[in-house]
Amino acid sequence: MGTKLSNVLQVSDLHVQVKTKNGAATLVKEINFELKRGSVLGLVGESGCGKTVTSMSILQLLDRKTTKIEGSIVLQGRELNGLDDKEMRIIRGKDVAFIMQNPMNAFTPVFTIGHQFIETIRSHTACSKKQATELAIEAMHHVNLPNPDKLLKSYPFQLSGGMLQRVMIAIAACLHPAVIIADEPTTALDVNNQKKVLQHLEKIRSEYGSAILLISHDLGVISEMADEVVVMQNGRIVEKGDVFQLFDEPQHEYTKKLLNARSLLHVEEPIIHMA
Ligand SMILES: Nc1ncnc2c1ncn2[C@@H]1O[C@H](COP(=O)(O)OP(=O)(O)O)[C@@H](O)[C@H]1O
Ligand SMILES: [Mg+2]
Repeated sequence: MGTKLSNVLQVSDLHVQVKTKNGAATLVKEINFELKRGSVLGLVGESGCGKTVTSMSILQLLDRKTTKIEGSIVLQGRELNGLDDKEMRIIRGKDVAFIMQNPMNAFTPVFTIGHQFIETIRSHTACSKKQATELAIEAMHHVNLPNPDKLLKSYPFQLSGGMLQRVMIAIAACLHPAVIIADEPTTALDVNNQKKVLQHLEKIRSEYGSAILLISHDLGVISEMADEVVVMQNGRIVEKGDVFQLFDEPQHEYTKKLLNARSLLHVEEPIIHMA
């Protein structure tokens, strides 16, 4: 019982199919993992292996007309699979927040940052506009965004990718969700901003106890942040385990391959052979 209670998110036998002209095609299959309260679970694998499909399935954001999600997705004791859009809108943002890979796609271009930030807060709380504005400004301070007042009046195109990513993190954090799903949150950023974004995520985890599903193809990011790791290949999980164990003693050939590819990339200085 203890272990069940400590799991804030439990994904069991997730199987996602997409309908095509030639019948149904499987995108991900036999996905099983659990996310413990306040912990970071890394989800790694090459581009196209099914990481985003998995996260979109959890959030019930895949197109219902063309995709079929089987299996169970339990968030804080509640089954999400099959909930309708109205029910999911209440859960998304408040209980499970989503940080998208491309920050530009997360915002509507015609509304100011402030409008979108404040609407999100107000749709999940009983806050007045003034209270929501104060909360938004405080959340932006927390992620070191300069001049929050001015930022709230800006439009998405007026901000850099790194800044938008931090706004998205501020929005995700301010309702203190039990789970944050961060899909490649640093891929679009330069090294400096990557570090900052990871620090902010870690801060949210330690301050509010949010659990984080951290999706990345970058094993460096995963090794720095995650407690446990799930490795995906071709729509399936090939290995999972504690981060130290998995990095020290990978069992699956594919995990070994990923780790080897990484160590090759990280040879920074040429080896000089002294004669
Ligand atoms: N709506 C969709 N219809 C058909 N195929 C899809 C759809 N969404 C994703 N895919 C396919 O599913 C596979 C996994 O995609 P994705 O989850 O985006 O990979 P990752 O995030 O790991 O890079 C890819 O082969 C992709 O082309
Ligand atoms: Mg993806």
